[in-house]
Amino acid sequence: MSDLETLTIALIGGGNMARGIIGGLIGKGARPSSITVSEPQEASRQGLVADFGVRVTADNTEAVRGAQVVVLAVKPQLMSAVARALAAAVRDANPLVISVAAGIRADRLQHWLGAGITVVRAMPNRPALIGAGASGLYAADSVSAERRRLAERVLASTGLVVWVTREEQIDAVTALSGSGPAYFFRLAELMAEAGVALGLDADVARQLAAQTLAGSGQLVAAEKTPDLARMRAEVTSKGGTTEAALNTFAAQDFNKLVTAAMTAAEHRSRELAAQFGD
Ligand SMILES: NC(=O)c1ccc[n+]([C@@H]2O[C@H](COP(=O)([O-])OP(=O)(O)OC[C@H]3O[C@@H](n4cnc5c(N)ncnc54)[C@H](OP(=O)(O)O)[C@@H]3O)[C@@H](O)[C@H]2O)c1
Repeated sequence: MSDLETLTIALIGGGNMARGIIGGLIGKGARPSSITVSEPQEASRQGLVADFGVRVTADNTEAVRGAQVVVLAVKPQLMSAVARALAAAVRDANPLVISVAAGIRADRLQHWLGAGITVVRAMPNRPALIGAGASGLYAADSVSAERRRLAERVLASTGLVVWVTREEQIDAVTALSGSGPAYFFRLAELMAEAGVALGLDADVARQLAAQTLAGSGQLVAAEKTPDLARMRAEVTSKGGTTEAALNTFAAQDFNKLVTAAMTAAEHRSRELAAQFGD
């Protein structure tokens, strides 16, 4: 019997990230009937039932009743109102609360939910939808090893899990893996556009760009401990075409551009905390 099979889990918000987590949990043995998703839109609720067979409700309080784990998966700007409204219900059930919201600090969640409630922050990413996600987790020192293991079990159903020791590192995780899929998609889009500029049909260029992204990812995934620099070197012959392209990246400060982009994402994560953390 899977560990997850015996867990009762509530998800507050049934959007994209919640779907990724639900898919991961069920894929790893959680029972759909033990998962309750609270979601305001009737059409979204019907979609969740059709796709996963989970229980659904429009009432957040009803969802958390009896839950051992509550995953908060609403937008950061809604978190304060949603968490405050759940305070009485979580006080009764005393579940482990996992928040996947960007920017919202554990101490704020704790404050809204009430003293004594265990909060773990998680920053997953979109490939969680197919079990290929990457999540950073953070918990305050006061959170027990048992509850950390429980949070890890839930997120591990969606892919890789790493712990960070300082909460501000979650902002860096957000900038790297949380927002990261969009960077690769953007690069592939630009490669397709450049392919068209070099004479390819748009559809051919799009297919080649998408498959190059997918194939490269699979190659990395097939390595036990991927060494990205070595893998790059292996496909870069001296004096060849790839080297010509990479030299152009270097000459135009691609590394600085990537650092600047990720710094902007990290900054935005901290801004969200300041904006929606009260
Ligand atoms: N998407 C990502 O790649 C990603 C990555 C890492 C972390 N996150 C975090 O995950 C969280 C959710 O993001 P998302 O992309 O999944 O957003 P999303 O698709 O908009 O999902 C949020 C869901 O919450 C529902 N909702 C709105 N108000 C609610 C309420 N009062 N009670 C319960 N549910 C409510 C929304 O319904 P309506 O559509 O009716 O408003 C929507 O279905 C965010 O905090 C984000 O920071 C997302």
